[in-house]
Amino acid sequence: MILVAFALLAFFAGWYIMTTPGRRPVVVSIYEPPIASVEERVRDIGQIQTDSKVKTGFLIYNIGGKHLRISGVDTSCGCTVADVSKKVIAPGDFTRLEVELDTSIKLGKVRKKIVVHSNDPKRPELALFVVGDVLPKPMEGHDQIMLQPKNKLVLFEGKCATCHVDAGKGKSGKALFLADCAMCHGVHATGNPAAAGPSLLGGDYEDEAYRSHIRSVIADGSPNSPQMPPFSKKHGGPLNDDEIDSLVSFLKFQSMQQKMGLLNQPDNSELEDEAAFQEALKQPH
Ligand code: HEC
Ligand code: HEC
Repeated sequence: MILVAFALLAFFAGWYIMTTPGRRPVVVSIYEPPIASVEERVRDIGQIQTDSKVKTGFLIYNIGGKHLRISGVDTSCGCTVADVSKKVIAPGDFTRLEVELDTSIKLGKVRKKIVVHSNDPKRPELALFVVGDVLPKPMEGHDQIMLQPKNKLVLFEGKCATCHVDAGKGKSGKALFLADCAMCHGVHATGNPAAAGPSLLGGDYEDEAYRSHIRSVIADGSPNSPQMPPFSKKHGGPLNDDEIDSLVSFLKFQSMQQKMGLLNQPDNSELEDEAAFQEALKQPH
């Protein structure tokens, strides 16, 4: 009985030590220089809503034998703020890097790079990444709205327009799609079940007749449902012919991306970032 109790105690103590940040034992060799190490270099924060501030953090351990000094932290864009609680980390100790992401900038896949500069001679610049998928904000009490055949242009007027068309003014292609269409058809045009908008990537965009069908639904609305209102200026909508053409081109491109399995790639990664990202995936610590 007592033996069982001891075994349990030992088990829970071990579990606590292994799972509590900062209590994790680290291998320190006094002969080593400072070594910055993290549990993971790529943090996937999953799906996040636009216009929200997301906080996440990395624990940076010094598994070397000399003091690790952090001289600075850089981020890949102004929408990310990162700072460490401690600048000098003793051998075996750790510090927390707080990262805050402002997701109001764009929709879709995002990847933000954070570079930690230190006196670790092997890796003076430690690149960390936060990746996620920014979704449009769902609307409270708004999922019962049905557009009626009689007033289907209501979407383009007054308060409705502030969310449904204003952000798309002066834009074309992908940016226009994200502003005017993504809330109903999903940020990747693969559909949004919550808003009943179907995927727009199923058809054959190489076929001229299919493209003209797509073009006419965007311009003139769906003949089957007022939920897809006519976007053309001809019918009182917000878009001119060039803007509608730019949407068809974007959808054609997007459908090609899907066929090649490239749909879920973040589009804001520069080539240099891409190499660093691949390296971080390969060497997670
Ligand atoms: C604050 C921004 C905002 C305003 C204002 C707004 N909408 Fe929306 N609307 C959205 C978003 C975001 C979605 C996608 C909803 C989802 O994913 O559940 C949406 C979806 C819809 C849909 C698709 C079906 C659904 O309900 O999900 C309809 C129809 C709609 N809106 C009509 C309107 C009308 C009519 C008005 C004005 C009375 C309006 N909206 C005002 C943001 C807004
Ligand atoms: C308020 C929600 C809403 C918005 C905003 C919206 N759609 Fe739709 N769309 C729908 C729904 C619902 C359908 C399905 C209609 C039907 O059943 O015929 C649809 C159908 C379509 C279709 C026909 C698909 C097919 O396979 O025949 C196309 C193309 C389309 N939308 C493109 C767009 C584009 C481009 C935009 C932005 C300019 C847009 N939609 C904005 C709700 C929306």
